[in-house]
Amino acid sequence: MAMNDPFAEWNINEQDFPRLGTNEEKLEFLIGYAILAPSGHNTQPWLFRHRAGGIDLISDRTRRLPAVDPDDRALIISCGAALGHFRTAIRYFGYAGDIAILPDAADPGTLAHVSLGSRHEPTDIERMRFQAIKKRRTTRLSYRDEPLPQTLSDDLLEGVSAEGVELAVIVQDKMKSAIASLVAEGDRVQFGDPAFRAELASWVHSRRAASRDGMSGANFGMPDILSAVGGLVIRTFDMGDGQAASHETIATHSPALLVVATRADLPHDWIATGLALSTLLLTVTAAGWTSAYLNQPIEVAALRPSLGQAAKVGGYPQLLLRIGHAADIKPAGRRPVDKVLLTRPQVPVTTC
Ligand SMILES: Cc1cc2nc3c(=O)[nH]c(=O)nc-3n(C[C@H](O)[C@H](O)[C@H](O)COP(=O)(O)O)c2cc1C
Repeated sequence: MAMNDPFAEWNINEQDFPRLGTNEEKLEFLIGYAILAPSGHNTQPWLFRHRAGGIDLISDRTRRLPAVDPDDRALIISCGAALGHFRTAIRYFGYAGDIAILPDAADPGTLAHVSLGSRHEPTDIERMRFQAIKKRRTTRLSYRDEPLPQTLSDDLLEGVSAEGVELAVIVQDKMKSAIASLVAEGDRVQFGDPAFRAELASWVHSRRAASRDGMSGANFGMPDILSAVGGLVIRTFDMGDGQAASHETIATHSPALLVVATRADLPHDWIATGLALSTLLLTVTAAGWTSAYLNQPIEVAALRPSLGQAAKVGGYPQLLLRIGHAADIKPAGRRPVDKVLLTRPQVPVTTC
């Protein structure tokens, strides 16, 4: 494995779990699965810190996206997804996982405190979700036209039932096309906004970039080698109509759309959404399906209530996903654990 391989983190091997190590060493290894979670524009806006025998998950506000995500809503959802992956890994390796959400009211940047907790025998579904962590991708291709199996729909609803969020699984053509029109409208608004385009462009670079973050031109339908040009094109031209037409068709032809909604719209709800997202994506992946995001009508605030009505959810829509079958794609880069882990546990100093 090359030292600067931006995809090296995806090669994490469960055989390397330090079974005989300290709790801190175990948790540190398991962060390697948390960082494989998705994040808006692949910003990876998370930090980790050893504290009190466990790990704090901290939001990294230096990686915020002020144009598309002015309230840091998607940033916190992304951290919630990392927390969900972390929890899945902890349970797979035989611990229940103790998670305190927003443990310190005076410190809103610390989103969760995580420790291993008591011993736990992983269930079959927990094992399958764990095995899906390394296979999950955001796949922006068109999906095969086929019905959503009832078992997958049931597994998705059952999977998120404990997270305190609402999930709508949408397969009816009329509902899909009403939602697709809102996605197209969202594209027109966003790609007509120079600030949105400049921000998106600044996160588009080669898959092999040393920063190991962001998205490549390939994610926008061009060869990776054109990533730099892709950024320029995105920044320079209002591509709204083209994006709108392609996303509208893609949304209508996906086997199912998923909408996650919450009763309130506060950091606690965003973390719950991220936990649910992790479970949904791993369930989809374990079934051999894949997913992508159509969050435009959530990001454009004026369209959010219309999306809620079209999807027949109460409260605040937080995520709009499409799921289906597509060809396998390569992973997106990830920053290594030692770049996102702030502290090591204190080693007692012995004097003689
Ligand atoms: C909260 C959140 C919002 C996202 N929004 C979008 C989006 O609107 N459009 C999109 O194409 N991808 C979106 N993504 C997907 C990310 O771009 C993707 O996770 C990232 O590029 C890393 O790629 P990977 O998921 O294949 O590992 C979102 C991801 C998260 C967690």
